[in-house]
Amino acid sequence: MRSYGTIVGLGCLLALGGCKADPPGTLESHLIIAAKHYVFIRNKSEKNPLPDTQATIANGKEAFAHYCVACHGLDGQNTGTPFAERMSPQVPPLTSPDVQRYTDGQLKWVIDYGVKPSGMPGSKGMLNDKEIWSIVHYIRHLPPAGSLGEPAMYTH
Ligand code: HEC
Repeated sequence: MRSYGTIVGLGCLLALGGCKADPPGTLESHLIIAAKHYVFIRNKSEKNPLPDTQATIANGKEAFAHYCVACHGLDGQNTGTPFAERMSPQVPPLTSPDVQRYTDGQLKWVIDYGVKPSGMPGSKGMLNDKEIWSIVHYIRHLPPAGSLGEPAMYTH
């Protein structure tokens, strides 16, 4: 499984050439965020079928560590990811209010289908529904920034 992360990481580095656009202005960013929340990101009312338990969170953390870490870091807050800030739009810390305001169903949708045209890839087919719903629980219980160290793919 670790190789997935590496492949995605590489793809991301290669894609950097195409990510040079200037960051959008503040008004533009607000409009984009509002549009994403109300129009684009679907599946608002679907409930997470998995219980919010330590076991589920641990499974989510495990799945996250295989694949999402390449851009989000082990802690979901970009610790140790060399290019998170250089992507356009930047990779947000998943603890940010704009991310946490999504319902569980919306987070599932984001992970299934990605956010186009940003660098956030869809995971449907690579991760199964159980893994993705577990990740949604993990995103609700992220550890303090930096507490898990840096992804091994960048330190080895
Ligand atoms: C190749 C890099 C990359 C990988 C791998 C990646 N993401 Fe992302 N992610 C991004 C970027 C870039 C954004 C910012 C997208 C935006 O704001 O439009 C993002 C945004 C998000 C958001 C917030 C979406 C929003 O609309 O604000 C969530 C939640 C998220 N990612 C979860 C995950 C999960 C869970 C995984 C693993 C299954 C994952 N990401 C894998 C790059 C990545």
